[in-house]
Amino acid sequence: MNNVELIRTLPKAELHVHIEGTFEPELMFEIAQRNQIQIPYASVEEVKQAYNFHNLQSFLDIYYAGANVLIHEQDFYDLAFAYFKKCHEDHVVHTEIFFDPQTHTERGVSFQTVLNGLKKACTDAKTQFGISSHLIMCFLRHLSEESAIATLEQALPYKQDIIGVGLDSSEMGHPPSKFQNVFAKAREEGLLVVAHAGEEGPAEYVWEALDLLHVNRIDHGVRSEEDEQLMQRLIAEKMPLTVCPLSNLKLCVVSDMAEHNIHRMLQQGVKVTVNSDDPAYFGGYMNDNFYAIEKSLDLSQDDLKQLAINSFEASFITDAEKAKWIEEIQAIV
Ligand code: ADE
Ligand code: ZN
Repeated sequence: MNNVELIRTLPKAELHVHIEGTFEPELMFEIAQRNQIQIPYASVEEVKQAYNFHNLQSFLDIYYAGANVLIHEQDFYDLAFAYFKKCHEDHVVHTEIFFDPQTHTERGVSFQTVLNGLKKACTDAKTQFGISSHLIMCFLRHLSEESAIATLEQALPYKQDIIGVGLDSSEMGHPPSKFQNVFAKAREEGLLVVAHAGEEGPAEYVWEALDLLHVNRIDHGVRSEEDEQLMQRLIAEKMPLTVCPLSNLKLCVVSDMAEHNIHRMLQQGVKVTVNSDDPAYFGGYMNDNFYAIEKSLDLSQDDLKQLAINSFEASFITDAEKAKWIEEIQAIV
């Protein structure tokens, strides 16, 4: 089997995907039309031309504008179910999906509307495709910690439907330390915690996510390589990094895929995983991310298998489920 066939064959878990970032222009137009909301583009081609980003903020501005057309439970269902179809095509068998409640509640869409739509899609994905999933609610770091606390309180009645909380949006100037109290409260409530850190922000933000937020995983974390002591800590603690290669390229975190550090970090023993982040905006889903790094970084078949194994080890499924998937990967020849 060649590398492309291996990538297709491997069962994989996706641990870093924003559901609002899976919003394909075709579906955006359809939902905008049925909700009678104007979008500032005349065609799908025009939307795609606008996806020319030079940093994280230039992407976020467009991403939040796109999410504005989502109003009804059915909209959230359609969005998530379309993503599950892509998972099925790519043999992603488990996914842990981020959603940004504040993007919706600030526009008057209720938390329950968002959650119900997403949950129904998760249930249908399990029955129709056998894909398991968890939901992770993210706080927008450009907003205040008070707003994050209010969002957590709103979510607590639905705690059984959410595996954990995360931290996303504009990283620079909004360090993890800003959210210590809300993360402590989330942990007290038994929620798992993750945070975006070291995407555009410095290695210092990764230290803060570890020491102040006590995260179970770091999202991105690619700038950790700038700090050797931090690298040693990540390796010793087997701390997973959910790396997003095509995202890093599109947002100019790296200038060329050949310069991406995912292979170097894997070889040093960091528990890196491959993820799509915002696939509708960054040019591809799970397998496209694998193809991109396989092509540019000279990955061996053992590397590809290790990346798939890492995705399950770093996930929030049970140890028995992890063992089952890892055994299946190891049996592939
Ligand atoms: N929200 C959606 N995608 C994001 C990313 N790559 N970084 C921070 N916040 C995000
Ligand atoms: Zn992200």
